[in-house]
Amino acid sequence: MVELLRPLGLDPAGTKLLDLGCGKGAVSVTVAHALGFRTVGIDACEVFLEEAKQKAAEWGVSHKCRFELKDLREYVKEASGFDVVVFASLGGLLGDYHMIPSIFVSSTIIDLHHLRETIRDTVADLGYTPVMSEHGDVGYLPDMTAAESCFVTVNECRLAVLIVGKRYGSKESDGRSVTHHEFLSAKDGKIPVITLVDRDVLTFEQVYDASAPDACQRQV
Ligand SMILES: C[S@@+](CC[C@H](N)C(=O)[O-])C[C@H]1O[C@@H](n2cnc3c(N)ncnc32)[C@H](O)[C@@H]1O
Repeated sequence: MVELLRPLGLDPAGTKLLDLGCGKGAVSVTVAHALGFRTVGIDACEVFLEEAKQKAAEWGVSHKCRFELKDLREYVKEASGFDVVVFASLGGLLGDYHMIPSIFVSSTIIDLHHLRETIRDTVADLGYTPVMSEHGDVGYLPDMTAAESCFVTVNECRLAVLIVGKRYGSKESDGRSVTHHEFLSAKDGKIPVITLVDRDVLTFEQVYDASAPDACQRQV
């Protein structure tokens, strides 16, 4: 970011930069330190902002950096007086860039990490915007849990890719998994869902169907 901004030759003392979804302040702190700009970082995650403030102090730029706990989607409606606005690594949070469709990838995460990464690359190669919670693509809102934010976000995408592997995943209070809720949310919103099912899971399902009580009765 510094190398992008430096050639613009902006006046260090007079330049104010807005860092939307600043996270732990990597952009704000580096720019304040390297270029002398004043920065305002907005993020919905309090823990990240605490780290950002700490980093600003360590780098001796606390007097140049301000961090605020806010939903950037609300903040941008009123924001003014900035010379530079940074919106880095936030996916389609403010809508589709040039109307590029967003594709939500829904599944358990840790066990399917490699597959999810491959799907991410494929979606991007096809020119669409992948939306994956572990990449910070989901717009977290202060008054919602991370899971609830995913349920809302899947509804804002144009398509969902659901991967059904061997793990059901962490459950919400109603006993249904986060992935299950994401699927239901997509279904409610009439978002098309492409479902990929692990071959073993399909086999388990056939065995389950064949051994279900009514199947036994049928055989008798
Ligand atoms: C992938 S991180 C990017 C951090 C930073 N921009 C960077 O490039 O290093 C995405 C950040 O956006 C924040 N975020 C997501 N939705 C937000 C919202 N609605 N309002 C404010 N911050 C949000 C997350 O908390 C997270 O810190």
